[in-house]
Amino acid sequence: METATKESERFKGNIRLLRKDDIPYLRPISEFWLRDGNVVADEEVDGDMATCRRSLIPGSGKTMFVAESPDGTVIGMMGLSDEPKDALKPFAQLNNPCEIIVAYVHPDHMMGKGAGTALMNKVLESARTKGKTEILVESGPRHIETGYPFYDKQPGFEKVGKIPNFYGDGQNTQVWRKTL
Ligand SMILES: CC(C)(COP(=O)(O)OP(=O)(O)OC[C@H]1O[C@@H](n2cnc3c(N)ncnc32)[C@H](O)[C@@H]1OP(=O)(O)O)[C@@H](O)C(=O)NCCC(=O)NCCS
Repeated sequence: METATKESERFKGNIRLLRKDDIPYLRPISEFWLRDGNVVADEEVDGDMATCRRSLIPGSGKTMFVAESPDGTVIGMMGLSDEPKDALKPFAQLNNPCEIIVAYVHPDHMMGKGAGTALMNKVLESARTKGKTEILVESGPRHIETGYPFYDKQPGFEKVGKIPNFYGDGQNTQVWRKTL
């Protein structure tokens, strides 16, 4: 009889804290996903890379993890912000919320190979270790096809509303939350 593979077992690589020398490898992954047509959204990519660098500063309130494939290639990233951004705070239901940030997996390694779930599990573990009570995440219209199904499938995550015009005129962002 076939048994279901746990996501954490499906990913054969390693999840670890981001190091400074990962950043040149993460930028192209972020550039792949943050574009309008063929034009890379440089400011948003710069913002993500700044968050990655900031996470290396002790006390920054950001923790970034990377996924590396069995051969050591960095193929994805996901992070935790100890404090949700202001626009997300109204969606918190408990007293110590946090936020998932900068979630991208290389297109050759995504959708069912388990890297995103393995990163998510590490982020959730980190949040629980910090005493966080719930986790929030928002995702904009660029990621309706490429990101929303992932959050919808993660155990315990529920859609709790949208923030209108968050990414510009008519560009709403979807919000999910999970109790930890
Ligand atoms: C969202 C993302 C980080 C998830 O990482 P991943 O490595 O693809 O996730 P997993 O392989 O662990 O997938 C877990 C489950 O979600 C499903 N899934 C993931 N992305 C999906 C998609 N776009 N459409 C349908 N299902 C998807 C997987 O098929 C898998 O389902 P299964 O358990 O039934 O097999 C990655 O797909 C990604 O980088 N997407 C593009 C960028 C993006 O949208 N990021 C989110 C921005 S907020």
